[in-house]
Amino acid sequence: MDRELVQKMINLATEQLKYSYTPYSHFKVGAALLTKEGKLYTGCNIENAAYTPTNCAERTAFFKAVSEGEREFQAICVVGGKDGVLTEYAAPCGVCRQVMMEFCNPETFQIILATSEEQYEIFTLKELLPLGFGPDNLA
Ligand code: THU
Repeated sequence: MDRELVQKMINLATEQLKYSYTPYSHFKVGAALLTKEGKLYTGCNIENAAYTPTNCAERTAFFKAVSEGEREFQAICVVGGKDGVLTEYAAPCGVCRQVMMEFCNPETFQIILATSEEQYEIFTLKELLPLGFGPDNLA
């Protein structure tokens, strides 16, 4: 992926940390999702006193985009850390990987994990979710 675009996505994901609602874990996550046409949707994690209704940053971004008619995606950038301090990569949880599997080609969809504009790594969905179950299995 183009380095400038990756850095733009890292900055956008990092900006979302300020909206992250985390009174329970204090673990803040931000995401920036890129559609195939180049439009960007953002997301943050949103926690809940009942815990299980918590929505991850990645799913917030996907659900915002899908609810506005988007169906095709090329990449997502995810950043996160305790109190919003980015020390390690915040890799998507299993549920978020499964949501990606619903809308993305695992061979080509790129997952950018970053701790800064300079420090990032890019994985395909297939690398993070090998042998994933998706819409093709039901076709
Ligand atoms: N979280 C995300 O937003 N994305 C992930 O993929 C991992 C976990 C959030 C959920 C919860 O608000 C907090 O991080 C701690 O699990």
